[in-house]
Amino acid sequence: MARILIVFSTIDGHTLTICERLQQMLQAQGHEVNLTSFENENEVPLVLEQFDKIILGASIRYGKHRPNVGAFIQRNRQVLDSRPTAFFSVNAVARKATRNTPETNPYLKRFLEQIAWQPRVAAVFGGKIDYPRYNAFDRNIIRLIMWITKGPTDPKSVVEFTDWEQVQSFGRRVSDL
Ligand SMILES: Cc1cc2nc3c(=O)[nH]c(=O)nc-3n(C[C@H](O)[C@H](O)[C@H](O)COP(=O)(O)O)c2cc1C
Repeated sequence: MARILIVFSTIDGHTLTICERLQQMLQAQGHEVNLTSFENENEVPLVLEQFDKIILGASIRYGKHRPNVGAFIQRNRQVLDSRPTAFFSVNAVARKATRNTPETNPYLKRFLEQIAWQPRVAAVFGGKIDYPRYNAFDRNIIRLIMWITKGPTDPKSVVEFTDWEQVQSFGRRVSDL
Protein backbone atom coordinates (compact mmCIF):
# COMPACT_ATOMS: atom_id res chain seq x y z
CA MET A 1 0.00 0.00 0.00
CA ALA A 2 1.53 3.31 -1.09
CA ARG A 3 0.57 6.94 -0.64
CA ILE A 4 0.37 8.29 -4.17
CA LEU A 5 0.05 11.92 -5.27
CA ILE A 6 -1.26 12.83 -8.72
CA VAL A 7 -0.72 16.42 -9.87
CA PHE A 8 -2.48 17.41 -13.09
CA SER A 9 -2.62 20.24 -15.58
CA THR A 10 -5.80 20.54 -17.64
CA ILE A 11 -7.77 23.20 -19.49
CA ASP A 12 -10.78 21.33 -20.82
CA GLY A 13 -10.87 18.61 -18.15
CA HIS A 14 -9.80 15.53 -20.07
CA THR A 15 -6.49 15.12 -18.24
CA LEU A 16 -8.47 15.25 -14.99
CA THR A 17 -10.76 12.48 -16.30
CA ILE A 18 -7.67 10.34 -16.97
CA CYS A 19 -6.34 11.12 -13.48
CA GLU A 20 -9.66 10.13 -11.92
CA ARG A 21 -9.54 6.82 -13.78
CA LEU A 22 -6.01 6.23 -12.47
CA GLN A 23 -7.10 7.22 -8.98
CA GLN A 24 -9.99 4.72 -9.02
CA MET A 25 -7.77 1.98 -10.32
CA LEU A 26 -4.97 2.57 -7.81
CA GLN A 27 -7.42 2.92 -4.92
CA ALA A 28 -9.00 -0.40 -5.88
CA GLN A 29 -5.54 -1.91 -5.45
CA GLY A 30 -5.41 -0.56 -1.91
CA HIS A 31 -3.30 2.56 -2.48
CA GLU A 32 -4.15 5.93 -0.96
CA VAL A 33 -4.37 8.44 -3.82
CA ASN A 34 -4.49 12.25 -3.58
CA LEU A 35 -5.36 14.34 -6.61
CA THR A 36 -4.56 18.02 -7.07
CA SER A 37 -3.88 20.46 -9.90
CA PHE A 38 -0.62 22.32 -10.46
CA GLU A 39 -2.53 25.57 -9.81
CA ASN A 40 -3.79 24.36 -6.42
CA GLU A 41 -0.40 23.01 -5.52
CA ASN A 42 1.21 26.36 -6.31
CA GLU A 43 -1.24 28.17 -4.04
CA VAL A 44 -1.30 25.69 -1.18
CA PRO A 45 1.95 23.71 -1.54
CA LEU A 46 1.75 20.10 -0.42
CA VAL A 47 4.41 18.38 1.62
CA LEU A 48 5.57 16.15 -1.20
CA GLU A 49 7.77 14.12 1.14
CA GLN A 50 4.55 12.65 2.57
CA PHE A 51 4.00 10.68 -0.60
CA ASP A 52 5.70 7.45 -1.64
CA LYS A 53 5.12 7.96 -5.36
CA ILE A 54 4.27 11.01 -7.45
CA ILE A 55 2.52 11.07 -10.83
CA LEU A 56 2.44 14.22 -12.96
CA GLY A 57 0.03 14.54 -15.90
CA ALA A 58 -0.38 17.43 -18.32
CA SER A 59 -2.12 18.20 -21.59
CA ILE A 60 -0.67 19.94 -24.62
CA ARG A 61 -2.06 23.18 -25.98
CA TYR A 62 -0.47 24.82 -28.98
CA GLY A 63 2.58 22.62 -28.80
CA LYS A 64 3.37 22.92 -25.10
CA HIS A 65 2.51 21.83 -21.59
CA ARG A 66 1.67 24.78 -19.32
CA PRO A 67 4.75 26.56 -17.89
CA ASN A 68 3.70 25.74 -14.31
CA VAL A 69 4.42 22.05 -15.03
CA GLY A 70 8.11 22.71 -15.71
CA ALA A 71 8.26 25.22 -12.86
CA PHE A 72 6.85 22.64 -10.41
CA ILE A 73 9.42 20.09 -11.54
CA GLN A 74 12.30 22.57 -11.14
CA ARG A 75 11.11 23.65 -7.72
CA ASN A 76 10.65 20.11 -6.43
CA ARG A 77 13.48 18.40 -8.23
CA GLN A 78 15.09 17.00 -5.08
CA VAL A 79 11.92 15.30 -3.80
CA LEU A 80 11.05 14.05 -7.28
CA ASP A 81 14.50 12.51 -7.64
CA SER A 82 14.23 10.81 -4.27
CA ARG A 83 11.21 8.58 -4.97
CA PRO A 84 9.44 6.73 -7.80
CA THR A 85 7.77 9.16 -10.20
CA ALA A 86 5.78 8.96 -13.40
CA PHE A 87 4.76 11.46 -16.05
CA PHE A 88 2.14 11.41 -18.77
CA SER A 89 1.27 13.82 -21.53
CA VAL A 90 -2.14 14.15 -23.19
CA ASN A 91 -2.39 15.41 -26.76
CA ALA A 92 -4.22 14.95 -30.04
CA VAL A 93 -1.15 13.86 -32.00
CA ALA A 94 -0.98 10.75 -29.78
CA ARG A 95 -4.18 9.48 -31.46
CA LYS A 96 -1.83 8.17 -34.15
CA ALA A 97 -0.30 4.76 -33.50
CA THR A 98 3.02 6.11 -34.77
CA ARG A 99 3.02 8.98 -32.22
CA ASN A 100 1.78 7.39 -29.01
CA THR A 101 4.91 6.40 -27.12
CA PRO A 102 7.50 8.49 -25.21
CA GLU A 103 9.95 7.69 -28.00
CA THR A 104 7.66 8.73 -30.85
CA ASN A 105 5.49 11.53 -29.48
CA PRO A 106 7.16 14.84 -30.40
CA TYR A 107 5.87 16.77 -27.38
CA LEU A 108 6.81 14.22 -24.75
CA LYS A 109 10.15 13.57 -26.40
CA ARG A 110 11.02 17.26 -26.42
CA PHE A 111 9.73 17.78 -22.87
CA LEU A 112 11.86 14.96 -21.48
CA GLU A 113 14.90 16.17 -23.41
CA GLN A 114 14.51 19.68 -22.01
CA ILE A 115 14.28 18.80 -18.32
CA ALA A 116 16.92 17.22 -16.12
CA TRP A 117 14.36 15.20 -14.12
CA GLN A 118 13.54 11.82 -15.62
CA PRO A 119 10.40 10.00 -14.45
CA ARG A 120 10.74 6.24 -14.01
CA VAL A 121 7.62 5.68 -16.07
CA ALA A 122 6.50 7.92 -18.94
CA ALA A 123 3.47 7.64 -21.18
CA VAL A 124 1.44 9.61 -23.67
CA PHE A 125 -2.30 9.34 -24.17
CA GLY A 126 -4.54 10.49 -26.99
CA GLY A 127 -6.67 13.43 -25.90
CA LYS A 128 -10.20 14.55 -26.65
CA ILE A 129 -11.41 16.95 -29.30
CA ASP A 130 -14.54 18.74 -28.15
CA TYR A 131 -15.37 21.33 -30.82
CA PRO A 132 -18.63 22.65 -29.28
CA ARG A 133 -16.68 23.57 -26.16
CA TYR A 134 -14.04 25.69 -27.90
CA ASN A 135 -14.27 29.37 -28.77
CA ALA A 136 -14.43 30.21 -32.50
CA PHE A 137 -10.72 30.97 -32.74
CA ASP A 138 -9.55 27.70 -31.16
CA ARG A 139 -12.21 25.68 -33.00
CA ASN A 140 -11.05 26.96 -36.39
CA ILE A 141 -7.37 26.43 -35.68
CA ILE A 142 -7.94 22.89 -34.39
CA ARG A 143 -10.19 22.11 -37.38
CA LEU A 144 -7.43 23.29 -39.70
CA ILE A 145 -4.83 21.17 -37.92
CA MET A 146 -7.20 18.19 -37.98
CA TRP A 147 -7.89 18.71 -41.67
CA ILE A 148 -4.15 18.74 -42.40
CA THR A 149 -3.53 15.66 -40.25
CA LYS A 150 -6.64 13.77 -41.41
CA GLY A 151 -8.53 13.99 -38.11
CA PRO A 152 -12.20 14.90 -37.43
CA THR A 153 -13.28 18.35 -38.65
CA ASP A 154 -17.06 18.38 -38.04
CA PRO A 155 -17.48 21.43 -35.73
CA LYS A 156 -20.28 19.63 -33.84
CA SER A 157 -18.21 16.55 -33.06
CA VAL A 158 -16.77 15.39 -29.75
CA VAL A 159 -14.15 12.68 -30.23
CA GLU A 160 -12.19 10.92 -27.50
CA PHE A 161 -8.92 9.36 -28.65
CA THR A 162 -7.80 7.96 -25.31
CA ASP A 163 -6.85 4.30 -25.28
CA TRP A 164 -8.08 3.34 -21.80
CA GLU A 165 -6.16 0.08 -21.89
CA GLN A 166 -2.98 2.16 -22.26
CA VAL A 167 -4.06 4.19 -19.21
CA GLN A 168 -4.66 0.98 -17.22
CA SER A 169 -1.28 -0.34 -18.24
CA PHE A 170 0.38 2.92 -17.08
CA GLY A 171 -1.47 2.58 -13.75
CA ARG A 172 -0.20 -0.98 -13.34
CA ARG A 173 3.38 0.14 -14.01
CA VAL A 174 3.05 2.89 -11.39
CA SER A 175 1.59 0.40 -8.93
CA ASP A 176 4.57 -1.91 -9.49
CA LEU A 177 7.18 0.84 -8.94
C1 LIG B 1 -6.69 25.32 -28.18
C2 LIG B 1 -6.15 23.93 -28.26
C3 LIG B 1 -4.85 23.72 -28.70
C4 LIG B 1 -4.34 22.41 -28.81
N1 LIG B 1 -3.08 22.22 -29.27
C5 LIG B 1 -2.63 20.96 -29.48
C6 LIG B 1 -1.35 20.74 -30.05
O1 LIG B 1 -0.59 21.66 -30.32
N2 LIG B 1 -0.98 19.45 -30.27
C7 LIG B 1 -1.78 18.39 -29.98
O2 LIG B 1 -1.39 17.24 -30.21
N3 LIG B 1 -2.98 18.57 -29.38
C8 LIG B 1 -3.42 19.84 -29.16
N4 LIG B 1 -4.66 20.03 -28.60
C9 LIG B 1 -5.45 18.86 -28.19
C10 LIG B 1 -5.41 18.70 -26.67
O3 LIG B 1 -4.15 18.31 -26.22
C11 LIG B 1 -6.47 17.68 -26.26
O4 LIG B 1 -7.73 18.23 -26.58
C12 LIG B 1 -6.44 17.31 -24.79
O5 LIG B 1 -7.37 16.27 -24.56
C13 LIG B 1 -6.73 18.49 -23.89
O6 LIG B 1 -6.62 18.07 -22.56
P1 LIG B 1 -7.32 18.86 -21.36
O7 LIG B 1 -8.80 18.72 -21.56
O8 LIG B 1 -6.84 18.15 -20.15
O9 LIG B 1 -6.84 20.28 -21.43
C14 LIG B 1 -5.17 21.31 -28.46
C15 LIG B 1 -6.49 21.55 -28.01
C16 LIG B 1 -6.97 22.83 -27.92
C17 LIG B 1 -8.38 23.05 -27.46
